[in-house]
Amino acid sequence: MQISGKNNHYFLLHSYLCISSIFYYHNLSIFFDAGLKRCTALLCDILALFLERKIILKKPIGTFRWILTQSRGYLKYTFILMLIGGLLSILGVYRAIASKKLVDTAILGSKPQTTTLLILLAILIIAEICLSSTNSILSARCRSKLSASIQKRIYDHILNCQWMELSGYHSSSLSTRLCNDADAVANAVTNTMPHLFTLIVLLASSFTALLYLEPAVALAAIIISPVCIFFSKLYGSKLKGVYKDSQEADALCRSFLQESVQNILILKTFCLERENYAGLSRLQDKKISLAVKKGYINTLSNTVIRLGSWSTFFIIFCWGANNLSGGVAAFGTLTALLQLISGIQAPFYGLASSVPELVASVGSAERLMELTSIPKEVEDNTDMESCCPIPDNSLLDIEFRNVCFSYKKNESLLKNLSFTVKAGEIVGLIGASGEGKTTIVRLLLALVTPDKGHIFIKYKGRKYQVSPSSRRFISYVPQGNTLFSGTVKSNLLHGNLTASDWDIHEAAVSSCSADFIEQLKDKYETVIGEKGSGLSEGQAQRLAIARAFLRKKPILVLDEATSSLNTETEAKILRSIRDLKHKPTCIIITHRPSALALCNRIFKLEKGMLYEIYSDNSMPETVEERYASSCI
Ligand SMILES: Nc1ncnc2c1ncn2[C@@H]1O[C@H](COP(=O)(O)OP(=O)(O)OP(=O)(O)O)[C@@H](O)[C@H]1O
Ligand SMILES: [Mg+2]
Repeated sequence: MQISGKNNHYFLLHSYLCISSIFYYHNLSIFFDAGLKRCTALLCDILALFLERKIILKKPIGTFRWILTQSRGYLKYTFILMLIGGLLSILGVYRAIASKKLVDTAILGSKPQTTTLLILLAILIIAEICLSSTNSILSARCRSKLSASIQKRIYDHILNCQWMELSGYHSSSLSTRLCNDADAVANAVTNTMPHLFTLIVLLASSFTALLYLEPAVALAAIIISPVCIFFSKLYGSKLKGVYKDSQEADALCRSFLQESVQNILILKTFCLERENYAGLSRLQDKKISLAVKKGYINTLSNTVIRLGSWSTFFIIFCWGANNLSGGVAAFGTLTALLQLISGIQAPFYGLASSVPELVASVGSAERLMELTSIPKEVEDNTDMESCCPIPDNSLLDIEFRNVCFSYKKNESLLKNLSFTVKAGEIVGLIGASGEGKTTIVRLLLALVTPDKGHIFIKYKGRKYQVSPSSRRFISYVPQGNTLFSGTVKSNLLHGNLTASDWDIHEAAVSSCSADFIEQLKDKYETVIGEKGSGLSEGQAQRLAIARAFLRKKPILVLDEATSSLNTETEAKILRSIRDLKHKPTCIIITHRPSALALCNRIFKLEKGMLYEIYSDNSMPETVEERYASSCI
């Protein structure tokens, strides 16, 4: 069938309107369904983020500089992403102008020119698709790489910073910062910043094109969009209270569930299942009612933005109806206007969501900066490592001289402690709970530093002040369960990563662990859970002792290491300690009299003072006598 001239125009116009309607329907649907809803939701999220986390942007410029420093090596990709985004914006505007020409040419009936323009349009569309795919791939790649790099850098700092300062942070807060905040900063550099630039280019180019085509529509668009956002934000501010309550209800619900799951044993043994379940229902009811309220306010806030957006389109349709019927304007101009208008609206809504996102990422960066500002441990023993490399199997003395320590100002915990532990000596440390026994170990490990006085390790008559790197001479069995999730073997290897299977077995035998390990389903390859779950407390303690035995260092410290063992097993392990081939200088902290039988000397910590209550010369003969005399 031949298409006549006029029909030809209508056919082309119809085809074009279909294509362009796909375009602007596509824009609109993104605009409404994703853009608007996300935009408002995001604004509220950011708002709540500020309220809940009390983000105060103290030094945005300094923080911004920090972000850039953290992103060195990735900034060139940010630049490329900006270029691609800018190019995409300009291509979009050019497509609108090309489509105007296409419709106008088609209506005039110029077939060759129409074909050329159709080809141009197809090329533009393909170029846009290719560029935006490249953009997404590059952005996702850079984001994950940068996030990992920031995470590693902060984690490295955490590993090497002062333990005391770090211990003030909640573990979940640290992991949130390492994961979420690192992600947010990476997202700002590889996504938000290029996106903001893209939006600005899109706004400028669309506005210029609109101004050229129809100044009145351009002015209407540039006024209506920001005004609507302003009113929507004004109304959205009412969300503050509801949002805060909603976040609190959510946090309560989450912590309730977390604690309940952690203490499920207590709930079961105290028959609290029903009450606990009812408690969860009450918290959920509150959360649901707040979510519904939030939904209503959100919908109203969105309606303002929808109203603004539709009114701009309505203005264009009025303009079209008026001018087309009067023959003043061309169809092509109408189609171009319909496409360009979203080039003005989208940047405003995009900016409304991207700017708070950027601000939130500055908040995230500040939280990370807080961690990096924790001072690193001071390495003042280069002397020890370079000038006097102490062999691993050497015998070392420990000396505390006039050591004073307090965790809080004016609350002195340890007062002027002075004592020496000779190489190869086994010393018992006793004292009531909370007196500061573990703190003495922390001082020896240089995890905390004395307010006054000095702590030395002595090798061949030379004294070396303890420091982080003198930890390499210490094997430590900490108080409490300190196992990692993983296999039995991987836990033992923490003591010595190069230990052979024979070494592992030897350490297991010395710590009375070998028997129970052999009975486990996969023996040394048996997987144990978080904090040694799947093992008894006593078994976990024995593995911790085996781990320390594997380390074979000149100093061995056991902090309540045998508290969960029966007397017989404990006696066996203590004998193993005495018989260790490398004869470590040993400090045993204990409340148990049986452990004291092994000691050459016993110190008692009382009211911040240390008393030597027994030495080899004055040591009572029997364990019972020692126990009775030490008044534990
Ligand atoms: N990180 C810390 N920050 C502030 N105070 C602390 C910290 N760790 C311990 N303390 C306080 O220091 C005191 C001594 O604690 P430490 O753990 O050394 O006692 P302990 O003698 O080992 O007790 P236990 O026998 O119960 O293990 C306690 O009063 C404790 O509350
Ligand atoms: Mg302790």
